[in-house]
Amino acid sequence: MIIREIAGIQKLQAGGGGHILFVGQTGTGKTLAVERTQEEEHKTGKLMVIIENAKSNLESGFCNLTLQERYKYHLDKLKFQGETPQKKDIKIYHLNNNIPTYKKIPETKIWTMNIKHIDRLLTSYLFEESSESSSISILNTAIERLKDNEGFFDLFMKLKKGDIKAEKDLFSLESKASSINFNTILNYLSRFRDQAILMPNNYEKNLDIVKELGEQKPYHIFSNRYIADSKVRDLATLYLLNEIRKAKAQGLIKREIVIVLDELKTLAPNNPLFNHQKILSKLLTEILSVCRSLGITIIGATQLYGEIDSGVRQSFSEVLLGRTTALSELKEISSIVGFDYSMRQMIMELEFNQFTFLSQEYNRMGTWHFHLPRHAHAERNLVFDRLFEKEYPDKMKNYKDEVKDIMSNFKMQEERVRGSL
Ligand SMILES: Nc1ncnc2c1ncn2[C@@H]1O[C@H](COP(=O)(O)OP(=O)(O)OP(=O)(O)O)[C@@H](O)[C@H]1O
Ligand SMILES: [Mg+2]
Repeated sequence: MIIREIAGIQKLQAGGGGHILFVGQTGTGKTLAVERTQEEEHKTGKLMVIIENAKSNLESGFCNLTLQERYKYHLDKLKFQGETPQKKDIKIYHLNNNIPTYKKIPETKIWTMNIKHIDRLLTSYLFEESSESSSISILNTAIERLKDNEGFFDLFMKLKKGDIKAEKDLFSLESKASSINFNTILNYLSRFRDQAILMPNNYEKNLDIVKELGEQKPYHIFSNRYIADSKVRDLATLYLLNEIRKAKAQGLIKREIVIVLDELKTLAPNNPLFNHQKILSKLLTEILSVCRSLGITIIGATQLYGEIDSGVRQSFSEVLLGRTTALSELKEISSIVGFDYSMRQMIMELEFNQFTFLSQEYNRMGTWHFHLPRHAHAERNLVFDRLFEKEYPDKMKNYKDEVKDIMSNFKMQEERVRGSL
């Protein structure tokens, strides 16, 4: 974020290159502040990618709905801001996993993963190994060597056959004692047998991030809401971030990109329950640090600063703190940035939409009052799907046939591989 003087008034402006994290207890207006920041960034021509993690309600989709009269605080504030409500275009995406087929859902682009894009970063996540063992090297090599039309079953068979009858070049790597056993890899991969997620390079439903982000106008919302398995859910997020990073590094996407990760703690908790989350935080920290130099800004939000993995939170160069009365949290923040008593008091007294910078450079500027977004917001008890259906009945779709098609393609791949044995 940068601060500029515009017509004698100091204004926070999007930009400046650093990742931004909003922190504050529930109901302080973090999401509203994130939404306003999104609007400002989008206005300047940046691409907006929103990753909705682990929420059944599609909070970020509300920008596409009408701002209802009964949210008077919002309409009044817009008047005060000299603005009128304005809807945003959205495009919703979901990985082909557990998509409900018995009912209609808001129009969604269902995507699969290109198996050849499962690179070292993703295999180290899948097998929870930050250093590359020899078995993982073999897996990576086998993936690299897959042909255009070869997919999951080809990979599986190649690995399996190789285990019995070592193909010289491919398995020469298996000389070192490896910490991850070859059978573990096969066992783990067999989890993907019943789910058409990993598809051949030439499969039409693979996420083509360059093509999708060719459109600047809609907010690109990547939802994970139907994915039940937390490891697959995080894989979807990691795959997406990795695709964006690679495309940007290769110069295939010209515009700057903003990626929004509200509820960051679901992705990078400080005390993770599962092992895969630990490695995920490490990988995220790595991705976040390269993103900055590539023209990708991350905007995150969380209720407690201390609940985010320390590596991940340190990747954020700007932390905006909203009202917090949790004493242990205040103590922790104070010990990190050296708040004195009056500063702590001020934070406990912040109002709706007010935030103060944690960084020394800006906190002398006091508190900042954020404008509200011009679009509707996910107010308590509102269900996105229900309101979307009311407003856009024609955009409610049933994906039964599409999901079936993807599955039958996957099954055909299996039969082809079995047939060739
Ligand atoms: N200026 C305001 N005046 C009145 N009510 C407000 C104002 N700002 C926010 N609110 C209310 O607070 C609610 C919470 O805002 P928001 O969703 O941005 O909070 P949050 O910090 O993201 O919370 P959570 O951590 O639960 O996600 C809003 O939905 C709105 O009802
Ligand atoms: Mg929120």
